[in-house]
Amino acid sequence: MTAIGTVVATSNSPSLDNIELILDRYDEPKIERGQFVTIPKNNNQVILGVVTGIKKYNAYYETLDSSVHEIASRNYEAIFPTQEWESTSAEVKPLGEIDLKKSKISRLKFPVSPGSKIFVASPSVVSKFLGLDEDGIYWGNIPSNNVKIKINLSRLLRKHLAILAISGAGKSYATSILLEEIHKNGKLGVLVIDPHGEYSNSIPGIAEDENIEVIKGSFISIGVPELSAWEISEFIPDISVVQTRVLDNIISYMREKNGNLYGLQDIIQRLEDSETVNTRTKEALIGWLYSLQRTYLFSTETSPNLLSLFQPGKIVILDLSDIQNLRSRRIIVSHILKRLYYLRMHDKIPPSLFVIEEAHQFCPQTFRSISKRIIETIAREGRKFYASLCLISQRPVNLSVTALSQCNTNLILRIRNPYDQDFIGKTSEAIDRSTLKMIPDLEIGEALLVGEAINYPTFFRIRSRTFYNKGIPPTLEEMAEKFKINWGIKHNQT
Ligand SMILES: Nc1ncnc2c1ncn2[C@@H]1O[C@H](COP(=O)(O)OP(=O)(O)O)[C@@H](O)[C@H]1O
Ligand SMILES: [Mg+2]
Repeated sequence: MTAIGTVVATSNSPSLDNIELILDRYDEPKIERGQFVTIPKNNNQVILGVVTGIKKYNAYYETLDSSVHEIASRNYEAIFPTQEWESTSAEVKPLGEIDLKKSKISRLKFPVSPGSKIFVASPSVVSKFLGLDEDGIYWGNIPSNNVKIKINLSRLLRKHLAILAISGAGKSYATSILLEEIHKNGKLGVLVIDPHGEYSNSIPGIAEDENIEVIKGSFISIGVPELSAWEISEFIPDISVVQTRVLDNIISYMREKNGNLYGLQDIIQRLEDSETVNTRTKEALIGWLYSLQRTYLFSTETSPNLLSLFQPGKIVILDLSDIQNLRSRRIIVSHILKRLYYLRMHDKIPPSLFVIEEAHQFCPQTFRSISKRIIETIAREGRKFYASLCLISQRPVNLSVTALSQCNTNLILRIRNPYDQDFIGKTSEAIDRSTLKMIPDLEIGEALLVGEAINYPTFFRIRSRTFYNKGIPPTLEEMAEKFKINWGIKHNQT
């Protein structure tokens, strides 16, 4: 193995928290920000560090003397090799000492010596340091270290996960890789709340895969007989306790009289007929129930049957793209999560992951949202019952702090908004300034993984899909062609 550089002595290097090195001069620099490097200490021990910055230097251009610029502008370079003065230096943050024999990692106690040689860290040293798991979720690569980022599944989902970035940075793509790996693993139950229908569209062969089920929002109905008055009241933000009690009386009556076969219309009818309920309560309740009825989400029976749907290894995609109304979406999400969480608490469905796209809409920090309570409940208590959340959002600032603070692992892709960056710096203690500075520069598909799932905040490249398509959206013409063919089939024209 050849060295890539040499430790130099400057006013602040080498110290316990900074090492500057000069790269071997005539080589193409084989160095990158976020790359792991090692400095051998003795046969068994290496010091591991991460590259935090790269700089070029040329003493020839250091002076403000105008003659320099004159030479540069007249292209004297051909006769005077100013390039010879150029050097590349890099800053490395030391992370610790690794004992290769005992597999022990300890803090750096003494600076390295100037003149020490620096090498690219080997995949096994990096894996050991980061606590990767050969059998874990294969999420991506660190190309400059030739390391596969494989994360232990239990460690990743033991608590909750948040995936945060601006839109278009690759959140859904990264999530689909996670789903692909969980699908391969075949044990968990997974629900994906997909407001834009992007998961169901991006999986070819989805219809043939019996372990992936897509449910359209418009196919969901909530069985009114399954709901208590208190549950209905959660869909009506302004209802009072007294009004909920009145509703409770009506529901008790319905149950006695009709068993399990009644809908909102029957409750409304009963209220209208009632002589004991006072007019104002009656009118308010009837108004609210009508507005719920107009969502067309309620029926006498719940469908589909979540208990039979949610089997080990099954990925259920809840495609809400055909439900435009945000309140209706929240009612669906709230109801389904509540049922699934209940089933999970009673061990009726497998340990589960609930993936929530656009999480700031379903669990916002400042606005009211029908689905907020159940998401916060799962965030706080879910791990006791092996129910994990994966919250995905492009506006972390707007996401419930209660929910986000329970996400002990974060996958962060590019974030530009300074408020969001600030917010992430504050919520994630593990991220230091130099790491935070790199987040706006990330390219599509480049991510920072930080938190419980990995020993140290790590930049890596999300791997390509295998089982899903390559994610290139069809062109306008391809889309038009597809439409034309489908239209032809529907209208019997070919
Ligand atoms: N790791 C990646 N490799 C290749 N293409 C990617 C990757 N991540 C994202 N893309 C592409 O970039 C675009 C935006 O990604 P997407 O996951 O939809 O972003 P987001 O969900 O953050 O809005 C898509 O066309 C997707 O296929
Ligand atoms: Mg997305």
